[in-house]
Amino acid sequence: MADPITPVLTKRWLSPNSWRLETYERLEGYTALRKALRGTPEQLVQLVKDAGLRGRGGAGFPAGVKWSFMPANEDKPHYLVINADEGEPGTCKDIPLMMADPHSLIEGCVIAAYAMRSHHCFIYVRGEALHCIRRLDGAVREAYAAGYLGRDILGTGYDLDITVHAGAGAYICGEETALLDSLEGRRGQPRLKPPFPAAAGLYAAPTTVNNVETIASVPYIVNGGADWFREMGTEKSPGPKIYSISGHVERPGQYEAPLGTTLRELLELCGGMKDGIPLKFWTPGGSSTPLFTAEHLDVPLDFEGAAEAGSMLGTTAVQVFNETVSVPWAVMKWTQFYEHESCGKCTPCREGTYWLAQILERMVAGRGTEEDIDTLLDVCDNILGRSFCALGDGAVSPITSGIEYFRDEFLALCEKQHPSKAERTPALAG
Ligand code: NAI
Ligand code: SF4
Repeated sequence: MADPITPVLTKRWLSPNSWRLETYERLEGYTALRKALRGTPEQLVQLVKDAGLRGRGGAGFPAGVKWSFMPANEDKPHYLVINADEGEPGTCKDIPLMMADPHSLIEGCVIAAYAMRSHHCFIYVRGEALHCIRRLDGAVREAYAAGYLGRDILGTGYDLDITVHAGAGAYICGEETALLDSLEGRRGQPRLKPPFPAAAGLYAAPTTVNNVETIASVPYIVNGGADWFREMGTEKSPGPKIYSISGHVERPGQYEAPLGTTLRELLELCGGMKDGIPLKFWTPGGSSTPLFTAEHLDVPLDFEGAAEAGSMLGTTAVQVFNETVSVPWAVMKWTQFYEHESCGKCTPCREGTYWLAQILERMVAGRGTEEDIDTLLDVCDNILGRSFCALGDGAVSPITSGIEYFRDEFLALCEKQHPSKAERTPALAG
């Protein structure tokens, strides 16, 4: 078992009224902000670099490095945008964090915005999460009233406004440039990168887009220091992480553990497989990462460990499936999701996800043929690396890995549920 950690990001979650300012302040809230505002923006950027904090939205880009791309001059406004459009299937860490402890995000926003010389921060929240938007709005109002937001924050002369913005329910708006388009009032579709948002982001001004969990980690780094943060996790993937565990486990939910924790260890935390029915497959980081099997129980879930096992770490959305679940059926459901959410901008993803869904639906309905497996892989090959954004690549992961590990199940589906084929082939008819 990895060294257990004293909860960091989730430490207030079970306190009564954990979302209220008075609870937050009683439990060390806003002490990091006071400390941060006594230093310079450069010192904060260096601190976050030294801590090795990596983006918690999925890609793991070093946060301090990303902050350092923001220009030092203020010829144009600088923007900090929080990506709270959590939409990856199985991912449920940011919304619980904002519900239980919204002030940790707000405190992180003020520190990060100060470090990047920004005076306006937008929190772009998934539109369906109305309860979360209300919770954040209430917390932002409390922070303004207490002088943590607005003009001359804590008498330091620093000004920051936060706007909580509701998305409209499109998965693609979690892609950072589509999110910026949506924030500007346009239909959310990914932009060509480069230029990266730090050069030309919101309203073509320097912008940093960070995930909720990334920014909520910042106050703890300011208070605890880089060395303390590096005591958790691995050398290249330091710090605590919230793993969202769903599916066939005894106690699904959010579990905080150091980066590098394995599924075997996470299963211990969440009470093991439900009713003792054995594990069949799982996702390490949402449906955009490949399926793993029982062979991957000891893969360290950090950026390097996942990569060595052939996956991105993604959002650490661990979806666990037992032996009762059909892999082709699960893969079909994910593919239908990607087909529905494809924004349509590029041909490989728009057309490819449509055909993938058609073929899988046909197979699951018992009208598939063995050739369909090759066709699926061929379509995947034409999407992977040829799509405009990561959605296309993500869409093929469950299919290619599902066929890699469970090809027999796809084959059996075609043979078993295809009576006319058995009739045509005496050997199969037995
Ligand atoms: P990416 O690797 O292209 O970029 C990561 C971040 O680093 C971005 O903010 C980008 O602007 C910045 N960056 C990268 N290279 C840069 C450079 N040379 N100069 C300046 N900035 C640079 O990854 P992307 O497309 O932003 O995210 C993909 C990930 O998102 C996947 O791992 C997936 O797991 C995750 N994801 C998360 C979802 C969620 O609900 N949280 C939903 C869907 C996907
Ligand atoms: Fe849109 Fe899909 Fe192309 Fe991304 S990969 S730009 S979601 S069509």
